[in-house]
This record gives sequence, C-alpha cells and structure tokens, in this order.
Amino acid sequence: MPSLANVATALPESRFSAVVHYFGTVDSTNQVARDLGREGKPDGTVVVADEQTEGRGRWQRRWVSPPGAGLYVSLLLRPEFPAAESGSAVQLVAGIATAEALDVFLPSKPWLRWPNDCFILDGKIAGVLVEAETTGQGFDFLVCGIGVNVNHEVDDFPAELRGRATSVKLQLGHRVSRLDVLAALLDSFDTWESAWRQHGMAPIRERWLELSPESIGGSVSVQTEAGLIEGVADGLTDAGHLRVRADDGTHEISVGEVIRSRPS
Ligand code: BTN
Repeated sequence: MPSLANVATALPESRFSAVVHYFGTVDSTNQVARDLGREGKPDGTVVVADEQTEGRGRWQRRWVSPPGAGLYVSLLLRPEFPAAESGSAVQLVAGIATAEALDVFLPSKPWLRWPNDCFILDGKIAGVLVEAETTGQGFDFLVCGIGVNVNHEVDDFPAELRGRATSVKLQLGHRVSRLDVLAALLDSFDTWESAWRQHGMAPIRERWLELSPESIGGSVSVQTEAGLIEGVADGLTDAGHLRVRADDGTHEISVGEVIRSRPS
C-alpha cells in the first residue's frame, strides 16, 4: 500500500500537486496551512499530516486524529471572489468532493448533512472545516480542512463517538490507502471548484442537494446560535444557507448544523 509520506511525489498531476507539504505530526493541518498562507504560499498548496495533536472541528470541537488512521488534509485557496461568496462555495465543493471520493471505495452511498458532514448509513465518516483569513483590507485566503475516517478501528474513536462515527475500514473490513482517498478527493474538488468558477453556484448547489436527500423535504432539527429550529428543509439559498420552513415562517440559516432529521 503506498505510504502517505510519499504524498508530495505520488499525487497525480493537478492544480493541487505542485506544492504539497507532508508532516508526521502537527497540531492542526488547518493551522499549518494558515501559517503558510500568511507567508504568501500559493493558491493550491496542500498540507497533509499522519497525525494531529490539536485537530479542530466546527464549533471549537476536537477532531480526534490518531496516527496512521485518518486523512487529515488542508487546502490553501486564494479565490478571486470575496470571502462570503467563496467560503460558501468552497464548503459545498468540499462536501461534494468528500462524498464522491468515498463513493469510489464504499458499497453504501455516502450522503451529506448540512453544512457538510459526510455520513455512511448513520455513521459520520468525514467532516469539513473552512476558515477564512482576512487582512483588514478585504479578503485574503481560505483554508479548507477535510478530515476523513479511513483506517480507524472502533477503539480509535473516543467513547462518546462510538456508534455515531464510522470509517472506511469499518465499512469494508480492510484497510485502504489514504493516498488513494486523497487523490480521489482532490480530483473531485478540482472538478467541482472549476464548475463553480465557470458557472457559479447553480451546478454545485444542485450536486450537493443530490447528495443530501434530507435537505429537500426532510424534517430537520437545526442547532443555531439562537437556538433550535425545527421544520421542513427546503434546499439551499444562492449563498449555501439552509432554507427551513417552520411554524413561525421560513428561515434561511447561515450558521448552524442539522443535528437530526426524519424523512418527510
Ligand atoms: C467537523 O466535522 O467538525 C470538521 C472537522 C474537520 C477536521 C479536519 S482534519 C484536517 C483539518 N485540520 C484540522 O484541524 N481540522 C480539519
């Protein structure tokens, strides 16, 4: 099985193969990519690590990142568009790329939960954390961090996640190469990011919704900063916000996460 340590030379040629940094152990690949962004490293720079000691998830949660188990990767992106617009698009593109990459390896269809958790059956298998860095004079760069549970055993997950998280290995019964998962992920990311650059939000919103059946017509509970919103999901806005029809009207939710759903 090809080693992740060879990532800098082993990735197929693409806009993400020119500048690739591999680390055995880092605090967080997102943090390393941010530091490289501040140093002026180019768009398309990739940071990969075998292990993270302070892997971070959304809402200040920890992303448990044991050595040899997961794919921990961050992309440094310098889109021409303003942060809000680019950040929403990159969120959708990253979710699509994660689901499409996993689809190559797994018999069950990956599906997405807004904003962009990736599930197999009812187990979370991957997550995305997009962070924007601004200089004060406008938008500077984005870091798109993706964590995929590839070769995790049950014991690699903290007790509170067991039964709620899964991995490629747990689904298939054998290990797969993290390098192969990364190559598939970057290939899909490149394809859908290009679609966004050429055609705008419409094609990526449509593809994302295909991968997230509960986001159209599902009965969802969405945790937001202002509290829980319960209603029927009604797709995404142009900005990638989740539209939910509730008893008190339609909400367009920009920040939050779906925590449960029932098919309608
Ligand atoms: C989530 O579902 O909460 C998002 C998890 C994102 C984890 C990845 S692993 C690579 C990158 N580096 C980090 O510290 N976080 C992201």
